[in-house]
Order: sequence, then structure tokens, then C-alpha cells
Amino acid sequence: MKNLVQKAQNLHTLAKDELLELLSTSDYDVEIFSAANQVRKKYVGDEIYLRALIEFSNICKNSCKYCGLRRENAALERYSLSKSEILHSAKNAINAGFKTIVLQSGESQSVSTDEVCKVVEELKKFDVAVTLSLGEKTQEEYKSLKAAGADRYLLRIETTDKLLYEKMHPNMSFENRINCLESLKALGYELATGCLVGLPEQTLSSLANDILFFKEIGADMVGIGPLIVHPQTPLKGCPDGSFTTALKVMALTRLLLPSINIPATTAMETITPEGRIVALQSGANVVMPNATQTNYSQKYEIYPNKNCKTSLENHLCELNCKFASIGRTIKMSRGNSLKWEQSSKRKA
Ligand code: 5AD
Repeated sequence: MKNLVQKAQNLHTLAKDELLELLSTSDYDVEIFSAANQVRKKYVGDEIYLRALIEFSNICKNSCKYCGLRRENAALERYSLSKSEILHSAKNAINAGFKTIVLQSGESQSVSTDEVCKVVEELKKFDVAVTLSLGEKTQEEYKSLKAAGADRYLLRIETTDKLLYEKMHPNMSFENRINCLESLKALGYELATGCLVGLPEQTLSSLANDILFFKEIGADMVGIGPLIVHPQTPLKGCPDGSFTTALKVMALTRLLLPSINIPATTAMETITPEGRIVALQSGANVVMPNATQTNYSQKYEIYPNKNCKTSLENHLCELNCKFASIGRTIKMSRGNSLKWEQSSKRKA
């Protein structure tokens, strides 16, 4: 089986049954994590790209079984930032040196697509990359947001197991999710997707399919995180996802997609102390600090204990020290995915 790890490291390809073999035993975990770390270093280098995350509204029309923002969660105080509040947080991040702003919200029209377009247009005046993570929209909306200047879109597939997807996402369709991802790709967005690890009834076979799906859809960035059970959701009482399994899905994704960007997700840090540092040494090269600068920042509670409470400046200092301790540095550039840059050069 060691040969499989070497094959993945050198050829960046594995068949479904080979991925499944590696996922089914912990005997080669050390080799997998180390191979992913080497591939990360070889392809995307030692610099860690930072993105400033602004969570501008927690209002959501969906009922995703695992998510604290689900509409049925009446215990959550809802908020929507105004255009000027969003811009205030974004400018603070830009002043701190960030070159990528990620605007994320629950799925709703509480801030209209036109309004988001205006925010994007404003932000583009500052020569930053703008990533949007607003859930499922119509193709027309994706088109207007792109025309307004958005560079990237983040929409996790969550799971490629259609039955599980539809169980976890009442009133949503797996086909529409795929259509959204394909539209985004066709419109020229740098495409970020990803999955949750540890959903009830999720199988290792479906996790292997998730990894192959990332390759097939042509993802430029892939975010993977363990499920963290939220008590105000129907999954209350279920076990959390496994950090090690999530880390392994992430490491295998790095082996198969060597030149993409992979964030060390906040969920990894929340579920295991120093989880983010471990992830950065197992294939990840991106960190997305929270830059939502309001009294509301604790209210974007997808899962419990998510938000860090220090200021952005202090947080940056802490990150700098932590990264230095593992021989890595922060790169305050736009941090385009290498894979995306190579394919856009080919197209030009
Ligand atoms: N635990 C971990 N991750 C979660 N997400 C939503 N709810 C949870 C949870 N309880 C993730 C989803 C979504 C991203 C923004 O947060 O994968 O795409």
C-alpha cells in the first residue's frame, strides 16, 4: 500500500478503489500526511495565503440539517450588515494588508444581489481579489456578480452522495448544486468547493467519490472540514466528524490536485487544538481569518465555538508567530490558484 502513496505523490492519480484502500486503514496515515506536505511544498511553496472573511448576514432560507444558521433555529439572533458596514470591515482588512476579501452569507435575498454587486464594484477599486460565498443563485445572478468584478466563488458540494445530500438539505436538489458549480466554472470564476466529513451515514466510499469529484469539476480551491455538531440542529446528539479523517481527505485531495489552493479550515482548528497548524503541515496552504468587524461577529454560528475573539491585527500577529514556528511565512498577495493561473494562460 506504500506504493499507492508513492503513486499518488508522483503521478497525482488514484482510482476509486485505491483511494478507498487508503481511506480504510490508518496504517499509512503518517506517509499520506508527509507526502501531501511535500507535494504542497513542491507545487505551491511555503507561503501561506491569507483571505479576509466577512460574514455579512446570517439570515438563511434553507434548513440544512447540520448548520446553525438553518431557518428553524429560532435561538439565533439574525443580522444583515449594511453596504457601508460591509465596506468598513473590508477596508479595515485591506488596510491590514489583505489582498483577498471573501464575502459570505446565509442563503437569502436579505442583502440583494444588486446590493452585493455594488459592494463588489467598490471593493474592486482597491485592487483586491473578491471571493463570494452566497450559496445557490441563478445563472443570471452569478453572471451579474462576475460582471461586477467578483473573481472567485465558494460553494461546497458538501457530499457527492446524492441520497445523503438530499437527506441533509431538505428542499434542495443535488442536480441544482452541480448545475450551480458548472455555471460558475463556465462563467470564468476561480472555483472553490469542498465537503463535510462525518455526516451521519456518510461512507468512506462517498468520501473517495468526493475527492474524485473535486478533480472532475476542475476545482481551483477545495475546503474540507469535520462536522461539528450544533445543539440547535436535528443532528444534536450525533458524534462530531473525525479530525483525522477530515485531514486525510484533505491530504489525499492535495496529492491528486497538487496545484490547487487548500485552506486549513476553521472547523479543523475548532475541533482540535492546533488543528490548523497540523493541516498546514499536511497539504493546506491557505488560512481565512475572520474580519467581520461588528458586534455581530459571534452570531455567525454555523457550529459552536467558531469565532476567535481577538482583533484582526492581534490575530495576524499570532498567526505570523505560529507560522514562523513551522518555517512558513504569510504571503499578502491575491494568492490565485496556480492551477487557475496555468489554465487561464493556456486559454490566452
Ligand atoms: N460543522 C462543520 N461545518 C459546517 N458547515 C456548516 N455547518 C457546519 C457544521 N455544523 C460548513 C458547510 C458550509 C460552510 C460554510 O460551513 O460545509 O459550506
